[in-house]
Amino acid sequence: MDHVKANVAFWETRHDHELNFAREQWGAAEPNWGVFGVPESDAKVLPTQLDGSMTVELGCGTAYVSAWLARRRARPVGVDPTPGQLRIARQVQDEFSLWFPLVRAPGEQVPLRDGSFDLVISEYGAAIWADPYRWIPEAARLLRRGGELVFLGNSTLLTLCVPDEEDVLATDRLLRPQFGMHRFEWPDDHTVEFHLGHGDLIRLLRENRFEVEDLIELRPAPGATTEYTFVNSEWATRWPCEEVWRARLK
Ligand SMILES: C[S@@+](CC[C@H](N)C(=O)[O-])C[C@H]1O[C@@H](n2cnc3c(N)ncnc32)[C@H](O)[C@@H]1O
Repeated sequence: MDHVKANVAFWETRHDHELNFAREQWGAAEPNWGVFGVPESDAKVLPTQLDGSMTVELGCGTAYVSAWLARRRARPVGVDPTPGQLRIARQVQDEFSLWFPLVRAPGEQVPLRDGSFDLVISEYGAAIWADPYRWIPEAARLLRRGGELVFLGNSTLLTLCVPDEEDVLATDRLLRPQFGMHRFEWPDDHTVEFHLGHGDLIRLLRENRFEVEDLIELRPAPGATTEYTFVNSEWATRWPCEEVWRARLK
């Protein structure tokens, strides 16, 4: 799992940005999703009933998604392999007086009990930074039967259209093949991400006893802005740049 080492090193460099973003998101009145912050009332990502649900966030970063779940009366656990990210999560827990357990581990190997969760969730955490052939089976192991898996990351289409170089916008051309897509090594920041085509992902989910219930393609409002430089609203209102998968364990 050489990618974990490379990615943890990258996330350790992001302290100031992550602390500011954590405070903003922990303080958000309503959950919002993706790089354009699509509000939960439009995107409908979260299960409607979370009262008392045991949830685990794989790749929680600064754990604002888990904070949103806690405010909806879930009982979250946040899991992340980067010590600096977990330190920020602990700091904002104190600032917002909202505490829940945080565990240091990658999404591929989670030291928590089988069948002990109602919801596994990831927003740009394990969803793109962990190897799906290892973290999806972990998600299935952690969930009780009937439990839900929700994860959000870059869309397949965006991954095909985004140039290798950092800070360059997605094009309207396919820059790489879809067949065989899995591991992406980005040359500028030396990170490794994982993205599968839809057919491979559906097969992987089904092999792990998941029934796909929804694929939500996030669409920002026209003119919405983002601090990120790989996509703009002109692109993202024409094509989905992010997708949310919802699947249930049979
Ligand atoms: C963009 S953050 C997403 C988390 C959260 N939504 C946030 O923005 O704070 C990405 C997180 O993925 C974590 N990560 C890196 N490799 C991972 C892995 N193998 N499994 C799970 N998470 C990983 C990083 O440590 C980082 O905190």
